[in-house]
Amino acid sequence: MRRAGSRARSARASPHVARTAPEPGTPREEHPDPRKKGEVVTESSTSNPAGADVSSASAGTPVLQARGVSKRFSGVTALDGIDFTVLPGEAHALMGENGAGKSTLIKVLTGVYQPDDGELALHGEPVRFARPLDAQKSGVSTIYQEVNLIPLMSVAQNIFLGREPRGFLGLIDHRRMYADARELLGTYGIQVDVRRPLRSLALGVQQMVALARAVSINARVVIMDEPTSSLETAEVETLFRVIGMLRAEGIAIVYVSHRMDEIYRVCEKVTVLRDGKVVHVGDLAELPRVELVSKMLGRSVDAVAKGGATSFSEDSHVSEATPVLTATDLSRRHQIDGVGLTIRPGEVVGLGGLLGAGRSETLKGISGVMQLDRGSVVIDGQTVRSGSVPAAIRAGIVMLPEDRKAEGIIPGLSVRDNIVLAALPRLSKAGFSSRKNQDAVVDVFMKRLRIKASSPDQAVSELSGGNQQKVMIARWLAMSPKVLLLDEPTRGIDVGAKAEVQALIDELAKEGLAIVLVSSELEEVVEGADRVVVLRDGQVVTELTGDQVDEKHLLDAIAGDGAASVVGADEPTSTTTDTEEPA
Ligand SMILES: Nc1ncnc2c1ncn2[C@@H]1O[C@H](COP(=O)(O)OP(=O)(O)OP(=O)(O)O)[C@@H](O)[C@H]1O
Ligand SMILES: [Mg+2]
Repeated sequence: MRRAGSRARSARASPHVARTAPEPGTPREEHPDPRKKGEVVTESSTSNPAGADVSSASAGTPVLQARGVSKRFSGVTALDGIDFTVLPGEAHALMGENGAGKSTLIKVLTGVYQPDDGELALHGEPVRFARPLDAQKSGVSTIYQEVNLIPLMSVAQNIFLGREPRGFLGLIDHRRMYADARELLGTYGIQVDVRRPLRSLALGVQQMVALARAVSINARVVIMDEPTSSLETAEVETLFRVIGMLRAEGIAIVYVSHRMDEIYRVCEKVTVLRDGKVVHVGDLAELPRVELVSKMLGRSVDAVAKGGATSFSEDSHVSEATPVLTATDLSRRHQIDGVGLTIRPGEVVGLGGLLGAGRSETLKGISGVMQLDRGSVVIDGQTVRSGSVPAAIRAGIVMLPEDRKAEGIIPGLSVRDNIVLAALPRLSKAGFSSRKNQDAVVDVFMKRLRIKASSPDQAVSELSGGNQQKVMIARWLAMSPKVLLLDEPTRGIDVGAKAEVQALIDELAKEGLAIVLVSSELEEVVEGADRVVVLRDGQVVTELTGDQVDEKHLLDAIAGDGAASVVGADEPTSTTTDTEEPA
């Protein structure tokens, strides 16, 4: 929101003011000293070489290096002579726009791809990883956004997969495996029932399990590609705490994220990629945020500085018009309970709340993705059939879902077809040659969202992660809806595109679209929304309007009395804390 905007903006100018997160009273962890050996030596960490040497003498030898690495795909040079150096115990950010080459570099470093030119070095010696397992065995581990473990197996089995403790008959010693797993996770302050299937845990906890596994198989470098993109605030805190502990053990972290706040909080070094080349290497402490962004985008610092923290305009779109959509008493057992919402044309309504408060569920209820037990959605006087996506779309309601990877991208199709897919009926009706219409729409959105593809005909599966997301956003916008429900619209996309998306939200509201915005970034909600409806435990607790729409009011409203109880390592699983005695 506007008033809060200027304040947030000036705070952002300093690279170390780096928090939008809502945890009053949480101790802040600063960069731990990488040379300080941790108090975290347990049975599990005995699998680290006893003298995991992070003395200043050895800190000079890079643990992992790419030297002049190039990687080409048909027609695209994804990496062009990259030098990348990771020292023991450092947290090294890898930054760049969508499509800059970050994921490709990580895949080369971890044996998924072979470089076309150049080489890798491990502890100063040239090395070749023929496959990911080789990299893992050499101590180079990756934590992907999607946890690459086995969801139906227990937490303990996942940690000890392939090296389970066995009794003298050769059978798996479950008792010991559970005890060991508990102890290992306990080292990082994670208390879960290790006998539970992995998939029953919150995503953040699953990632901790993946991390614990990596470390217990002797990782020296842990590479994280957008690890927090689907984590809630409390889970992110736990992740950061674990990262601090790993660094204290001398383990290096390579960290990819589009969230500037996190980068400045977690990392000390940065390598910036642009169009497959390294354009900057240095200490983050010496690199103000605007300079980092200017290096990523290849624009002048002045041009970037003018942009501000978000790209929402200062003026609000408060409207007196009749609501276009009225949702009443939206309810579904265990998820939302009696949620009501009205949206006027030209208005951006934010939904505030914590993990599990019911924000995404409210959007899903309105858009027909989730069947409701009770409640109604009325648009322009017509009741929309509940639980039907086609009915909602016909009524003019579309939703950009939170999990865009799982819901929507059709990998076999081109960028063009992915964009026009849902809008086809509308585009064909329009009288002109439908192909021409399609091309025009595709062209507009590819430009507007700066989708990086060699042509509209490129297979969408060949685009970088962020560019695939932009294609999804384009698809929903191309449908010209009346009501647009946006769940985390800027997650995973780079700063440049983020600004475009924010400006677009603004513009669409000015054109009369009614928009509901859910974002885990408080700043985005308060600057983007004209009013904010705050949810807690599936119910609307309050609505912020006018001057109340700022970060402070929103924090107070979403935290309520339960603030303390939702912060901390074991929060996502606190109801299932393992109470069994250690064996
Ligand atoms: N399998 C592939 N086939 C063709 N082109 C590819 C392939 N994988 C990546 N590319 C291209 O290589 C470039 C770099 O992609 P990469 O995924 O490394 O970007 P990124 O920096 O990780 O971006 P993001 O922030 O969006 O995840 C992009 O132009 C992408 O389209
Ligand atoms: Mg990527």
